[in-house]
Amino acid sequence: METMELMRARHSVRKYTAQKIEPEKAAQLKNEIEAINRESGLFFALVTDNEEIFKANQPSYGSFSGCRNCLLFFGGKSCAEKVGYFGERLVLFAQSLGLNTCWCALTFEKKAVPVAAPEGMKLFIVVALGYGETQGKPHNSKPVEKLARLTDQTPDWFRRGVEAALLAPTAINQQRFRLEQVGERAVRAKALLGPCFKIDLGIVKYHFELGAGKENFEWA
Ligand SMILES: Cc1cc2nc3c(=O)[nH]c(=O)nc-3n(C[C@H](O)[C@H](O)[C@H](O)COP(=O)(O)O)c2cc1C
Repeated sequence: METMELMRARHSVRKYTAQKIEPEKAAQLKNEIEAINRESGLFFALVTDNEEIFKANQPSYGSFSGCRNCLLFFGGKSCAEKVGYFGERLVLFAQSLGLNTCWCALTFEKKAVPVAAPEGMKLFIVVALGYGETQGKPHNSKPVEKLARLTDQTPDWFRRGVEAALLAPTAINQQRFRLEQVGERAVRAKALLGPCFKIDLGIVKYHFELGAGKENFEWA
């Protein structure tokens, strides 16, 4: 699937079937995780066949069912944006394998996580993973002019980047980010304060790069 299609196809899924992740797909995920860990200095891990992490105290928002697998994202204290950036790379990779996901900051059981944080790192967030009962549905989006400044002079690459950024998952779907073209070839991405706003910013920047093409601009 083409990258833009992958971003369009990804939605948060909270209800999962009992279908297991095939060993070949788990191996592909582990390879990608190793590549990310080498490149980023973060520590990501895959957990399969664990019924406890998404079992406990289900509030009305973020109630999960049937989820037995997840991705764990550890990193140093100041790595939230990086976790978002590389985490979304892994989420879209999982989507390319036909798996469903949901980023999850709050509504999981921390005590049930079977992997200890490496020295100097903390667990930022987990991502539910598996075969969804459905593929989920597109989120509501703020009007584009609330998130980015577009004019008659705005180049196509910036428009494509914004289109991709609008598809990014954000905590409680808050979309608390702003994108602005600066000069000919630079883009400023800003996050407004809110829950997980730094992780959200990393996710949004990853989407923007995929849409705009990294070769077309630099981050200001
Ligand atoms: C950083 C972050 C934290 C999130 N935390 C939770 C959570 O604790 N529980 C939950 O059910 N969904 C959580 N979500 C999923 C968002 O609610 C979801 O991404 C958003 O509503 C947009 O929907 P979409 O992912 O289908 O595009 C989180 C998403 C992000 C990016």
